[in-house]
Amino acid sequence: MQHISRTHRSHVIAPSILSADFARLDDEVQRVVAAGADWIHFDVMDNHYVPNLSIGHMVCQSLRRRCSVPIDVHLMVQPVDALAERFAEAGADLISFHPDASTHVDRTLQQIHAAGCKTGLAFNPAEPLGRLEWVIDKVDLVLIMSVNPGFGGQSFIETALRKVEQARRIIDASGRDIRLQVDGGIKVDNIRRVAEAGADTFVAGSAIFGQPDYKAVIDAMRAELAATEAQEAAA
Ligand code: DX5
Ligand code: ZN
Repeated sequence: MQHISRTHRSHVIAPSILSADFARLDDEVQRVVAAGADWIHFDVMDNHYVPNLSIGHMVCQSLRRRCSVPIDVHLMVQPVDALAERFAEAGADLISFHPDASTHVDRTLQQIHAAGCKTGLAFNPAEPLGRLEWVIDKVDLVLIMSVNPGFGGQSFIETALRKVEQARRIIDASGRDIRLQVDGGIKVDNIRRVAEAGADTFVAGSAIFGQPDYKAVIDAMRAELAATEAQEAAA
């Protein structure tokens, strides 16, 4: 299995199966992995922290047996701790949660690590990065939301770019191997700007599953990312 942690310059594309056809979920996952997905992004919504309901740890457990790439679980739930435990048991590789949904953020991060998973801290569009500084030694991924969580297919919120830049500075200053993920409204035509702001891990749901040819979309995204890399190398 591929490792979650790689140097921040390697780009990871993580299709969100929220926009997949749930009636054919295994087939959808196989197809998107064959099309070049690096990770599977697994959105968990509880109709409490966000006004929508999606899939839970039992689905994660079934997929884990059939999926050859890391499963990146994005918990949009409150409270966090008990469900994080269930997802760790279900074989999640990385578990992200929203700090405002956990009463004791540091403890939740410790529990996820103790359960054998990587940790992610997710920041909503109006949520500042303030708490990150105090727990950065326990964080493996910072997730910047570029939509309000709860639904696929929303438009990218532009102010997220500035927050990505800010997160990039904080991560680099920490000297730790932390991935910087952006989630929401990512398409072929904006992924380059998101990468240029400093992101290395890209979630895309409707942009990929909304098209018949997943490989064409992922290839087009990679071509955009390669252009960013070429630009950086030339600079
Ligand atoms: C939103 C979810 C996202 C969403 C992304 O609450 O966390 O992962 O599914 O979907 P798109 O790419 O369609 O915005
Ligand atoms: Zn997500």
